[in-house]
Amino acid sequence: MTNRENFGSKLGAVLAAAGSAVGLGNIWRFPIETGRNGGAAFIIVYILCILLIGLPVMLSEFMIGRHTQANTARAYQKLAPNTQWKWVGRLGVFSAFFIMCYYCVVAGWTIEYAMLAITNQFAGKTANDFPKIFNEFAANPWMPIIWLIAFVVMTHFVIVKGVTKGIERWSKILMPLLFGLVVLLVVCAVTSPGAKEGIEFMLKPDFSKITGKTVLSAMGQAFYSLSLGMGCLCTYASYFDKKTSLGKTALQVASIDTMIALMAGFIIFPAASTAGYHLAPEDVGASLLFITLPNVFQQAFSSLPILGYIFSVMFYLLVILAALTSMISLHEVVTSYMSEEFKWTRKRAAITETIVCILLGCICSLSFGVLNDVRLFDMTIFDLFDWTSSNIFLPIGGMFISLFAGWYLDKQIFRDEITNYGLSSAPYFKALIFLLRYIVPLAIIAIIVNQLGIVSLL
Ligand code: TRP
Repeated sequence: MTNRENFGSKLGAVLAAAGSAVGLGNIWRFPIETGRNGGAAFIIVYILCILLIGLPVMLSEFMIGRHTQANTARAYQKLAPNTQWKWVGRLGVFSAFFIMCYYCVVAGWTIEYAMLAITNQFAGKTANDFPKIFNEFAANPWMPIIWLIAFVVMTHFVIVKGVTKGIERWSKILMPLLFGLVVLLVVCAVTSPGAKEGIEFMLKPDFSKITGKTVLSAMGQAFYSLSLGMGCLCTYASYFDKKTSLGKTALQVASIDTMIALMAGFIIFPAASTAGYHLAPEDVGASLLFITLPNVFQQAFSSLPILGYIFSVMFYLLVILAALTSMISLHEVVTSYMSEEFKWTRKRAAITETIVCILLGCICSLSFGVLNDVRLFDMTIFDLFDWTSSNIFLPIGGMFISLFAGWYLDKQIFRDEITNYGLSSAPYFKALIFLLRYIVPLAIIAIIVNQLGIVSLL
């Protein structure tokens, strides 16, 4: 635990944390949730969730990480020695590992689709071809596995380089590229001939669609999108230097994440309306990304195929970048834990994590083909990893983080970290503690209950 590295600059710290937050969640979930839940009305609810639930938890994770300068499991042990709170940190490490195992499968698919786009394989295909292309590819035992290995190995090489030369350096390269691609894609999409309908659809608030369930799904989405609940941001914050303002950083990360999610909407809806395609609630997740959208891009620019080609290539590169920076943050949680707790070198820890993740990733991947019949609670292995991590582990982790920061931890530590030991002021401190003590835990309990389907609210 000697010579622990720090991010070399504030910008590096913000971009790394934003890289973790901006991921598949922004692209394959947020736009559709907006579409199905009343457009701008959902956006308003979502932003409130970010402010009232997301930011307090993010600040808590930042505070815990920066104060202890340790991996997320050790962090709780340091702040609450000889208590059971250490399990919150351990749960985080476990969740990161769990998420990684299925995230790398989808990340691998994005490489295949970037390749298909680059080699112009979407040209001339019709709506009926795309489900077939995807289903055959996902069920194939080889290609998805080759791509997932490629993806994890890519992540691995960033991680072994360390915090400054690996994570920070690559965040500073990949995130600006990602912004550039998003802006270009938005410009292309909103200037396409049929864009107006799609834009209006996103901007028109339909408050009649807002129900208890909408609010809960906005909360869940805010949580996942900000990478909260399992120590990702806590681990990154352990590399923040003492001068970094936690409040400002949290606000910047949340703004970047929300902006990219909104912009993803301004890519997807105008393209769909230009293509004359009505996005349905089922067009979410993998089916949106790999079946609906390649077709939408194909049809939207059918009068100018070269534009359709460039648009598809840029879009799948964007998805790769978004997935890569999130994968890096997940890998780092486990790597820092193993290297600090087992006193391993960073390299040894990273290799171990990479190999185990590849092995489990392969099993998740095969559950679309030969292992499709292996089910538990009627879910395939992949679905099980996905479902339990986002619906159980993350909310439970998030709830304990807020209880820890709101009830257990010495308020002075919290205040010192947030004000950088009195250098700045935090007039919102009382409100923050109130949210962490009451509102956040209650909200999360509601999310869990809703997702488990125990009571169907409203
Ligand atoms: N936030 C990322 C996304 O939107 C995914 C992610 C990365 C994540 N690290 C996380 C989610 C930690 C929850 C917790 O896709």
